[in-house]
Amino acid sequence: MINYTLNGEKIEQGNETTILESASKQGIKIPTLCNNEHLTPFGGCRLCLVDVATTGNPEMKKLMPACTAKIGEGLIIDTHSSRVIQARRFILAMLISRSPKAEELKVLAEEIGLPEESSQQTIAEKYMLEEAPSIVDTNCILCGLCVRACAEIPMRDAISFSARGMERTVKTPFEKYAETCIGCGSCAYVCPTNTITIEEVV
Ligand code: FES
Repeated sequence: MINYTLNGEKIEQGNETTILESASKQGIKIPTLCNNEHLTPFGGCRLCLVDVATTGNPEMKKLMPACTAKIGEGLIIDTHSSRVIQARRFILAMLISRSPKAEELKVLAEEIGLPEESSQQTIAEKYMLEEAPSIVDTNCILCGLCVRACAEIPMRDAISFSARGMERTVKTPFEKYAETCIGCGSCAYVCPTNTITIEEVV
């Protein structure tokens, strides 16, 4: 049995699982973008950050992604502390600055909010305008779900991440037609922002 504290409640759980799964069993919703229960957790979007401390040192809190971090004996976990909320809002604002038109991000912004800007104009107002300034302006939020789906379901590795930083994208090898693609549509199915679409070619 693992005994830990979740949002002030003592929890006793039989098996080692992620914080995300355990919180979900307790009816606590943690926002996610790059998680899919059928795929290996990746910890890419960081929206699921939670505060984690130990009973031995409760003041030493660390922000950890709930989708990859496991529950453990004596842990004190807070899924909605003000620090957590602020971190999620900041990350969401960064994602929106990259993909201002992604509907999924707008829905999340409604749910968890966005940080206030010093000018009093919220990032939501600023970035949700059609003509919003955008760093990259793509609906792809680099959650990697499509890459993992392709690698883990049909096991084809037809797409992968390419380049780093601002140039980072998901591509087929050498941007050519991927010979290994079987057109199963797994990548499009898991894409949270509908960036990947399936086209029937006859
Ligand atoms: S859902 Fe945990 S990092 Fe994306």
